[in-house]
Amino acid sequence: MDPGIDDALALYTALGRLPIAGLSAVAGNVEIEKTFVNARQLLRLAGRSDVPVWRGSAAPLHYPLHTAPHVHGASGLDGYQFPAPLDDAPTEPPWAAWARIWQEETTPVHLIATGPLTNIAKLLWCLDDAPSRLTGITVMGGAIHGGNVTPTAEFNFYADPEAADQVMGANVPVTMVGLDVTHKARLPWEDLPRFLDFAEPGRLLYAVLHWYGEHAERHPDGLAIHDAIAVAAYANPELFVWQELPLTVLQDAAWRGTVARLPESARRPRVKAAVDVDVPGVLNWLWGSLQAMAENSPAFRQS
Ligand code: RIB
Ligand code: CA
Repeated sequence: MDPGIDDALALYTALGRLPIAGLSAVAGNVEIEKTFVNARQLLRLAGRSDVPVWRGSAAPLHYPLHTAPHVHGASGLDGYQFPAPLDDAPTEPPWAAWARIWQEETTPVHLIATGPLTNIAKLLWCLDDAPSRLTGITVMGGAIHGGNVTPTAEFNFYADPEAADQVMGANVPVTMVGLDVTHKARLPWEDLPRFLDFAEPGRLLYAVLHWYGEHAERHPDGLAIHDAIAVAAYANPELFVWQELPLTVLQDAAWRGTVARLPESARRPRVKAAVDVDVPGVLNWLWGSLQAMAENSPAFRQS
């Protein structure tokens, strides 16, 4: 993750419903120093400092770092000030840590990626073969149609197109949740006050989403909450319409980050791509997840 305002919503949604084995921060929306601190601060605010956070890649595999402070603010979570600084954190990079842990443990795991795919690509390099315990990778990124950095490229795939192409061709089940559905399942602006019912994490979400709406995501149908839709897609695939497609991600500057659909004869794994979504169903699930997260957060328990 590269928190990042919609990453924050994705994390709090996941905390309400899913067991989280760990997080890795990646440079993307803002620099790694900030995404790493933001990920840990978000966990602490929700009373979940038990979840380990690893510091991942500071730059893409090939291209120079391309950030989006105009969308998420210079801090990555503008609109909210965390109460206090943090202590130290694991220094081992995530791809090394996970490869080591996955040799020792047998519990199945699934990766949900909500930032550029640099860390995931490096992890796949570390794995001799995709371990059977890796049940798949759900990626917020890409688009069959459209783009939000260029007319044809989505930010996470644009930021590191080489890593995105490696993951789209990986020998594990890959699910792509792109702009085709995240531009449909928008959060109505008038629903923002509901976040204030969810303790301090909810107050953070209200503040940063308000900043996001004021500065970046002005759309009549509401706020694009891309990363949270990827979490919803992992937990509720039945709320989405899928197509199994052979996909590649273009690397040259003119088409950087663009998803290209290959011929059916292509010798490349099929990616399960989301092409439509039950918007009310997904939003209803998100609100329920946030309620569950808040009930487990320290501030809620004290209130
Ligand atoms: O294009 C949307 C994606 O890029 C989201 O993950 C957002 O957080 C940014 O990283
Ligand atoms: Ca993100």
